[in-house]
Order: sequence, then structure tokens, then C-alpha cells
Amino acid sequence: MKLFDVYPLLEITPVRAEGSWLWDDRGIKYLDLYGGHAVISIGHSHPHYIKRLEDQLHNIGFYSNSVQNPLQRQLAEKLGSLSGYPDYQLFLCNSGAEANENALKLASFVTGRKKIIAFRKAFHGRTSGAVAATDNPKIVSEFNKGHDVVFVPLNDEGAFLRALDGSVAAVIIEGIQGVGGIHVPDSSFLQMVSAQCRANNALLILDEIQSGYGRTGKFFAHQHSGIKPDLITVAKGMGNGFPVGGVLIHPGINPKSGMLGTTFGGNHLACAASLAVLEVIENENLMANANRVGSYLMTGLKSVRGIDAVRGMGLMIGFDLPEELQFVRTTLLNTHRIFTGEAKPNTIRLLPSLAITMQEAELFLEALRTCVANFMVTQK
Ligand SMILES: Cc1ncc(COP(=O)(O)O)c(C=O)c1O
Repeated sequence: MKLFDVYPLLEITPVRAEGSWLWDDRGIKYLDLYGGHAVISIGHSHPHYIKRLEDQLHNIGFYSNSVQNPLQRQLAEKLGSLSGYPDYQLFLCNSGAEANENALKLASFVTGRKKIIAFRKAFHGRTSGAVAATDNPKIVSEFNKGHDVVFVPLNDEGAFLRALDGSVAAVIIEGIQGVGGIHVPDSSFLQMVSAQCRANNALLILDEIQSGYGRTGKFFAHQHSGIKPDLITVAKGMGNGFPVGGVLIHPGINPKSGMLGTTFGGNHLACAASLAVLEVIENENLMANANRVGSYLMTGLKSVRGIDAVRGMGLMIGFDLPEELQFVRTTLLNTHRIFTGEAKPNTIRLLPSLAITMQEAELFLEALRTCVANFMVTQK
């Protein structure tokens, strides 16, 4: 059997990883500033993470959601206290798209409505409702187009208010838009959206799948704006590579038996991985590190000649490359052996582990300065 060929692949085969570093099958070492799409939160192969998963595997790896699983309650408690949402409820699933799908479904159950407001350049995943709320017609099939979704430009108060009416079940918004190119919603905009949702009995869903889990220096990006959404979705950094996702649910929303469900969600291994991640974030002060190294990277980037529009917060950073510097991402990878991410058409995304050191950040800045300086020399 062949693989269903949907991914454009780099010609690199990583076989080992540690901290912010990867090694390929030829022994070449790479600095990882992308974490496999923002997934590696505490660093590759963290010893505490390995031990917790290993120990769990020796006890019990999986049983379904038809038996007691105290690890789920431990995880809910730890996540509640670290994130500042101790009174919320947790539904566990397996991926980001599934988390958003469940959040959208829950908002519709609660309100009895079905219209969704989403934002231009949004990405919420590839399941039916999540992809319908994603602003990319290329990945939306005819089947997905049946959903009632209206897109409005980010930070456009007038357009948002025109779209909001009594039929809106939920507004879904990323803490910081990731796939769309690192666009940060204004605090005043988020505050207005939150207040208007409340006034119209629509639920506010904060998609923190890429921007959450300490990446911006606070547990969730929206906490920089002081709002409290009804539903918060998480995945990516939650398991540091173990597939796990979740929805944090306002205490006023009552569960009904069978309302949501999954076979794999919240299994013993997923809980062990997620607990290990939270323990490391707390014990190693990784949110403070994200803040510190993020500010250093941001300041450094702003001083590189030719680099445009540096955006983001903490360790969720994007910047634009002008036409003549489009080669930079490939040179960083092939010459300097540094992984970065991209967002079409011309944005580089940095989403390193929250444990990245100042020295590692400096290695990247130095490599970027070299790429740009070499180009300037050839232009003289
Ligand atoms: C903001 C956001 N939401 C949802 C998703 C979908 O997550 P998954 O690929 O785990 O389904 C992503 C993935 O990139 C994302 O960035």
C-alpha cells in the first residue's frame, strides 16, 4: 500500500530529538524553532515526560470512558489551577479539530441556534464544523459548506456588529491567528466581542490550540485582554507530541449524559503525557521563559534590516519577508540547519519549545543576520 500523498515533505528524516534539537538519519543536527507546528511545548524527549509515560505504560495504557479514570480528574485539577480556570469543566478528546468541533456543537446545544461567526484568515481544523469555520475555500468541500458560518475581518468592530444577531450560537476566534500568519486580535476588540456575545446570549469560543499552554507568557493568549470566554479549546502543546485535545467549559454549562463522547479521548497515556507537560511548565517556570526569550527574539528581529512587520507575543512570533528575501527560510534550513515555520504567502513563523534558551535564540538571530547580510553583499 502507498501513503495517500497529501503532504509536501522536506527531504529530512529526523530520528532523534532532545530539547530544542533534532538529529536526522545522516547525523545532521538541527535547531528546532517550529516544534512540529507548535506541538513541542516543554522540549523534545524531556526526561520527566519520558518517565511519566513509561511508568504509565507499565501500569495501564488505555481503557475507554466507561470506567473510572482518576488521571482525568488529576489533569482537570492541574489544568484548572495552572490556567486560572479552576471552576471550569474539562472535556478531553484527541486533536485540535475535534476540540473545536465539540465546542461548536456544545454552543449549538446550549443556545439552540446554529449560526457561527468566524474571522478572515482563521484556521480551526479539518473536521466538518471546524473546517467550515476556517477561511480557506481550498480545504472546504461541498459537504462542509452546509454550515451557517459568517466570516468578518479581524479587529473590525463594525463588521462584527453587523454579523451578530439573535441567531448566533457562537463566535469562534483564535487567541492569536497562527496558520493565517500570526495576527493578534486587539485587546479592545476581544473585550467588545466578549461583551457583545454576553449581551446577545451567544457563546464565545477561544481557540487556544496554537496560542495557549503558556506560549505567550500567560497560560492563554486571551488572558492578556482580561476576558473570560465560555469555551476554550486546547491541543498541540498539551501533550508535547502525544495526541490529546480538550475543551474547557464554563461552569454554567450543564453536561448531559451522552452529549459529547469519544473512544480514545482522555485515555491513561494521554493524561500522563498532559500531566507531565503541566508539571514541567510549572516546575521550570516555562511561561516566564517564554516571555523572556520571546521579548529577546522580538527585539532582535526588529533590528534586522529588511525584515518587515514583526508580530506576536511571547514565543508565538511571525515576520514577513520581502520578495527579495524569500529564500531565507530555505537557507536557514539547508545552510544553518534551523527549522522555522511558514504562513503563505511570505511569513516566517517561530513556534519553538517554551524551554528554548537565550543562546539558542541568539543562534537563530545570528543565522538570520548572516542570511540577510550575505544577500546585501551580493546586491552591491
Ligand atoms: C488555531 C488552530 N486550531 C485548530 C487546529 C487544528 O488542530 P489539529 O491539527 O490538531 O486538528 C490548528 C492546527 O494547526 C490550529 O492552529
